[in-house]
Amino acid sequence: MKFLIINGPNINMLGIREKNIYGSQSYEELKKLINNWSSEISVECDEYQSNHEGAIVDKIQSCYGVYDGIIINPAAYTHTSIAIADALKAVDIPSVEVHISDVTKRESFRQISYVREICVCTIAGKGLPGYREAMEKLKEYILYKEN
Ligand code: DQA
Repeated sequence: MKFLIINGPNINMLGIREKNIYGSQSYEELKKLINNWSSEISVECDEYQSNHEGAIVDKIQSCYGVYDGIIINPAAYTHTSIAIADALKAVDIPSVEVHISDVTKRESFRQISYVREICVCTIAGKGLPGYREAMEKLKEYILYKEN
């Protein structure tokens, strides 16, 4: 089972940006954790990060026929991007939305998510381990759907 983990703008600044909200671990550390978790969970994971909306749309389109699942933290684009939501709908690959922070308890502009309704589920406020949970949930969902 092959997943792509997509991270949006400023996730490459993990460990530097607002540590009180996003913690002190870097994006490089997140990638290492994902690699460890993927062997534990027995899934294959590639990672992609971009600060550019169109690049994320291109990447999602390129997933068609290649990946079984997408885990996406669209970061600030969660709250603004119809284009990213449309791309997820277009490829129709099971996807899970992840947020490191608990967006439900933050500013009102973070209460909108254009991808939420398209995704199998949303994991928010669990820090970096939220990505692990997303990998498990997505695997379960795909296996359940097949049987
Ligand atoms: C975030 C939450 C977003 O509101 C914010 O713009 C981010 C990160 C999170 O992971 O908690 O950049 O997606």
